[in-house]
Amino acid sequence: MKLEPFRKYLGLIVLAIVILSMIIVYFFSVIPLAFFLLFQSLFFLLCAVSSFFIVNFDDRSQLIRRRYLIYLISSLLGIISANLIPITIIITLPGPRISFNFLPSLVTALLVTVICTFILKVIINRRIPYGELRELTELEKGKNLLQIKNLKVYYPLLGGVLKRQIGAVKAVDGVSLSIRTGETLGLVGESGCGKSTLAKAIIGLVDMEAGDIFYRNININKYYSNIIRQKIQIVFQDPDASLNPRMKVVDIISEPLKNLLGITKKDQLRKHVLRLLEEVSLKREHLDRYPHEFSGGQKQRIVIARALACNPELIVLDEPTSSLDVSVQAQILNLLKNLQNTYGYGFLFITHNLAVVNHIADNVAVMYLGRLVEIGEKEQIFSKPTHPYTQALLYSRIRIDPDDQDIKYVIDGEVPNLINPPPGCHFNPRCVSDARTKECEFKTPRKIEIEENHYIWCVNPPKN
Ligand SMILES: Nc1ncnc2c1ncn2[C@@H]1O[C@H](COP(=O)(O)OP(=O)(O)O)[C@@H](O)[C@H]1O
Ligand code: SF4
Ligand SMILES: [Mg+2]
Repeated sequence: MKLEPFRKYLGLIVLAIVILSMIIVYFFSVIPLAFFLLFQSLFFLLCAVSSFFIVNFDDRSQLIRRRYLIYLISSLLGIISANLIPITIIITLPGPRISFNFLPSLVTALLVTVICTFILKVIINRRIPYGELRELTELEKGKNLLQIKNLKVYYPLLGGVLKRQIGAVKAVDGVSLSIRTGETLGLVGESGCGKSTLAKAIIGLVDMEAGDIFYRNININKYYSNIIRQKIQIVFQDPDASLNPRMKVVDIISEPLKNLLGITKKDQLRKHVLRLLEEVSLKREHLDRYPHEFSGGQKQRIVIARALACNPELIVLDEPTSSLDVSVQAQILNLLKNLQNTYGYGFLFITHNLAVVNHIADNVAVMYLGRLVEIGEKEQIFSKPTHPYTQALLYSRIRIDPDDQDIKYVIDGEVPNLINPPPGCHFNPRCVSDARTKECEFKTPRKIEIEENHYIWCVNPPKN
């Protein structure tokens, strides 16, 4: 049952029903409205508090996802039944109006709430698939996980005394891509081209200007539920910034277990955390240490374990190895690959390091100034780079000779400003391709198929 719409409008629904029942009873009774409002608010408060205690009694907080529904239904049934007493008396007994009887109504409201909460709790508890929620599940590989269609994210630029919007940084400007389970998409591009912004848009940290993001065919810009928030996890570049230095590892990893999976018993939490630490090759003795007692690679392992705690399906890795030594980078990459092989996670792996992409990615997308310029399978991109920017990136990687002091393959010119990118193809001031024409300066590049699953965005098809 989808609860998000309920939760979103919970306050409004409650208010409407309470006011409606108040008006009904008020018109049939003779007590002043002020008293009546007070009584009804007290009823509702008591009903909600009693349902809260019953739901959380006996460590049943696995019901955490459904608790709002239980509070809502039981409290409403309680308050409606409380109002039913005076209404029934008024309708069935002829004669003059009677006054509102507080005590029997209150007792009825509480009784009904307690009974309803118990019944709902038992029903919902039976329907929650705990095994699926709490254990790391193995996903079927090759299934559609994430689809991004024409995504645009603009940061407003404020200026002037009144701080009005005077422009926008078009950090992501019409990006489309897709990721399936068990697959890694490597996203490469120069610093500042919008890679992290794309990642943030996927996890709902920044607002989209336009476009759609589908997670398992659900449009998440309309419906970003807690379930999706749990299923998409992110690992940032700097583990120090991701870990609270005042918390022990066991508490850091317990947080998502408590908040998303509703595990609250201490021994169960430790058991789960230990299992997750073992997944990332850490040990029991690490449980009660603080982040500063670990090396950079170990900290990144803790961050990965915390991401796994949510039992995710898609993990966005935003330069997860960039701050690590090369040997440690390899360990983390291998760890990620092993986890993916076992559990079938989909990865969006963001990096500017082509060697890393070559090691881990199945598909590669190349980004330049907020737009994709080439996308394809890893072998296609590395053996047949077609867009002039991809070619320049790859050649600058391959042809640097440590004995030669002059770096030969440098893309000429400065990276243009995202606030005011060059019109037409953003790459046109730096493009040295034979295919470059005058049209590149004003026409928007179109998607051109090079071979199956391999596309570039260019105004003109490549010459050969
Ligand atoms: N919160 C923000 N407000 C305004 N501009 C931003 C903000 N965050 C990032 N930018 C700008 O958006 C562009 C893309 O940034 P980012 O996505 O971090 O790039 P990357 O991860 O590829 O290095 C950069 O020009 C950056 O300055
Ligand atoms: S559109 Fe023109 S300027 Fe841009 S990459 Fe293609 S050929 Fe070069
Ligand atoms: Mg970044």
